[in-house]
Amino acid sequence: MSSDTAKRAAAAAAIEYLGEEPVVGFGTGSTVNHLIELLAAEVDSGRRSLPAAVSSSQRTTALLLDGGFAVLDLNDVPQLAIYVDGADEFEPGLALTKGGGAALTGEKIVATAAQTFICIVDDSKRVDVLGGFPLPVEVIPMAHASVARQLRDLGGDPKLRQGLITEYGNVIFDVHGLRIVDPLTIELEIEAMPGVVTCGIFAQRRADLVLMGSDTGVREFR
Ligand code: 5RP
Repeated sequence: MSSDTAKRAAAAAAIEYLGEEPVVGFGTGSTVNHLIELLAAEVDSGRRSLPAAVSSSQRTTALLLDGGFAVLDLNDVPQLAIYVDGADEFEPGLALTKGGGAALTGEKIVATAAQTFICIVDDSKRVDVLGGFPLPVEVIPMAHASVARQLRDLGGDPKLRQGLITEYGNVIFDVHGLRIVDPLTIELEIEAMPGVVTCGIFAQRRADLVLMGSDTGVREFR
């Protein structure tokens, strides 16, 4: 099974958890793109009704609108039951790293607002310790040199993602060489650096359920 087929299998499994929720939060990335496509197809074939959506990024919003979803402003949604998103890595405690697609800030905002966070991944994303995938950190441009120094003090090697400005006007560092044994502490430490907007560790708001697609089917981690 290719990684893409495994992602699609995980996305299909997530649909079972959506029930008839009137509003669903959507993350960003190729796995979520499968979810949007599969859900729109289910609606087209009359198997379910279309939920309204809260989106984590401009890219996801464009896809949702193409699929016929109504996209709501998070500020107008008093209660969001479910958020579904991919990840770059997940560990046994269901802490994640995210932001490979540069949408970490919107993703963290919507994930934190949701009662339940379902993470959909292929099996290449499963690790014992986070950090093999360089950790994305979104930073206000005027602070990039001082944040880089502080990230080096933590033992990381921050590389500025070239040619990228986020939808909030910021830059992203991909921090290599961190072995994130205590995700919650490192997340809090990085987010306390002045100028850091979002750290790509999702430990304060970790996943409640991970659906991992692989050759042998979809496995659940809680
Ligand atoms: C985007 C993300 C994505 O969830 C993460 O990069 C996984 O992407 P994909 O589903 O394409 O493997 O955090 O900012």
